[in-house]
Amino acid sequence: MAVINTLQAFVQTALALSFIFIAAFSGLEVIPERAKLEYVNEKYFYNLSVNVKRYSRSSSYYFNIEMTTKHVWTNNVTLHLIFNEYLHNEYQSSFIQLHHRFCDIIKYDKFIGTMVKQVGLECPMPAGTLQLMNFTLSLDKFPNVFPFQKCRVDAEVTITATNESMAAMCFYVSFKDTKRT
Ligand SMILES: *[C@@H]1O[C@H](CO)[C@@H](O)[C@H](O)[C@H]1NC(C)=O
Ligand SMILES: *[C@@H]1O[C@H](CO)[C@@H](O)[C@H](O)[C@H]1NC(C)=O
Ligand SMILES: *[C@@H]1O[C@H](CO)[C@@H](O)[C@H](O)[C@H]1NC(C)=O
Ligand SMILES: *[C@@H]1O[C@H](CO)[C@@H](O)[C@H](O)[C@H]1NC(C)=O
Repeated sequence: MAVINTLQAFVQTALALSFIFIAAFSGLEVIPERAKLEYVNEKYFYNLSVNVKRYSRSSSYYFNIEMTTKHVWTNNVTLHLIFNEYLHNEYQSSFIQLHHRFCDIIKYDKFIGTMVKQVGLECPMPAGTLQLMNFTLSLDKFPNVFPFQKCRVDAEVTITATNESMAAMCFYVSFKDTKRT
């Protein structure tokens, strides 16, 4: 059974790109507080579930995703990520948006390359069941790239050629700067 770390790829890519505009280094904890599945296209998935669990009041938040895909994924699948900042009691779309083809993320993003290999995510990604369980993110040595503390990340996977939606979900995430004094 392969293991997928799609969200990890998303977030890491966001961080990598964000080097461009923010330079200060610090520790960054990314806390996924809630996940919501908004759409699944049954042409492409047998099933897809996503959730965030906490095992006790003091435990970390764990992110889990499980899916069984019907097709091979190559660059014919594109990932879209839109960060919406929580401001004045509502989520507002921000300038941080990513639209990347699946294999390009895996092959060319040097920040995720090693991690991707560790969990066995590959390109092309064969059809079948993919699981990511108990995933947490703690990013020491990464700059605190997010100009906000709380956001909703809208994530969508589409067919590259037509932009037909395959699945859409959103994550409510907060960022904690672990080294700020
Ligand atoms: C998803 O569907 C696949 C194929 O039908 C099945 O093997 C798998 O057990 C299902 N997973 C869940 C969580 O229902
Ligand atoms: C992507 O392309 C491969 C090979 O051309 C094809 O087998 C697969 O079904 C396509 N994937 C999707 C999601 O359409
Ligand atoms: C996830 O972590 C919790 C708490 O550490 C543990 O009880 C559970 O068995 C783990 N689940 C998986 C699938 O690893
Ligand atoms: C394709 O869909 C994504 C996700 O809904 C959207 O953000 C993007 O703007 C769309 N691209 C085009 C060219 O319509």
